[in-house]
Amino acid sequence: MISALTKAFFHGLARSRTIEKLASRYGMRRKTSFGRRFIAGETMEEAIEAARAIQARGMLLTLDQLGESVTTLAEADAATRVYIDMIGRIVEAGIERNISLKLTQLGLNVDRATCTDNLRRILEACRPHDFFVRIDMEDSPTVQDTLDVHRTLWEHGHRNIGVVLQSMLRRSEEDLRRLNEAAVRVRLVKGAYKEPKTVAYQRKADVDTAFQRLMEAMLLEGTYPAIGTHDPVLLGRAKTFAAEHGISRERFEFQMLYGVRRDLQAALADEGYRVRLYVPFGRQWFPYFMRRLGERPANVMFILRGILRER
Ligand code: FDA
Repeated sequence: MISALTKAFFHGLARSRTIEKLASRYGMRRKTSFGRRFIAGETMEEAIEAARAIQARGMLLTLDQLGESVTTLAEADAATRVYIDMIGRIVEAGIERNISLKLTQLGLNVDRATCTDNLRRILEACRPHDFFVRIDMEDSPTVQDTLDVHRTLWEHGHRNIGVVLQSMLRRSEEDLRRLNEAAVRVRLVKGAYKEPKTVAYQRKADVDTAFQRLMEAMLLEGTYPAIGTHDPVLLGRAKTFAAEHGISRERFEFQMLYGVRRDLQAALADEGYRVRLYVPFGRQWFPYFMRRLGERPANVMFILRGILRER
């Protein structure tokens, strides 16, 4: 995993308007453009096409309409409508009914009550169609609010919603204990944001050790847990741990990001594990894309070559 410094560098670049403009101009133009490595496309049609290809390869998926950190209630309302429209399009297309979303896209940083209501609107639209909705986890200042919004809707009887915990955050152990007790479905990831050492482990070894500890607790006590990583060591440990404890392959799933470690995705699916791909799409792909670069600077060369080729 990448040092905190590298992550900070890419998070800095992610705020650059010039780079965003350059990337937006070249990143998605053609089927071979560099942005398409990690993003299924800018339109719903492209996302559906990617979803069909994934299903044909025997894998599961979750669709994410990209967007985050809106600053007005009007934008939050617009994002909510986009999601409600997307639910109809997914049903029409007959692809898997599983979506991921970010609460800052629905107005979490503007007004929590409105954000909760926006998510409730989405869940109501999902209700007749048997969807599963995963609330992605964002940076540490939003974690408690995210869990609170989830809990409010859970207490109102919505059971088709799960959350994400990040092993880099020290609090995740306690959060997982409560979520396991309540039988909430959790996706475990390492964490994609730059976090201060007061709240997060900074060394890769500590993040990985925490991941393993949380993963084992999820496998033993969780409800259909999702193990979200491309780390071959941790994937191997998950397989061994499940086998040693008699946890069958139907009781958990592996999750990976669209375009990352396609070799591992295929290998796990071929071995008979459930593999779900996180499929992001939409016009607002730049911050998501920059987080993927921050995870692996070697990707930068790949992108630079792409830009040169496009020009
Ligand atoms: P690690 O970073 O140690 O990488 C292990 C190996 O995977 C690398 O050696 C490399 O081979 C490969 N790899 C990893 N990232 C790569 C990349 N970008 N490009 C190419 N190869 C790469 N985070 C978050 O904060 N909130 C969230 O809600 C989510 N949601 C989410 C869903 C799913 C399905 C996944 C898989 C991940 C997330 N994440 C996330 C992102 C997560 O926190 C983390 O940043 C990435 O998964 C990278 O970490 P790894 O576990 O893969 O390990």
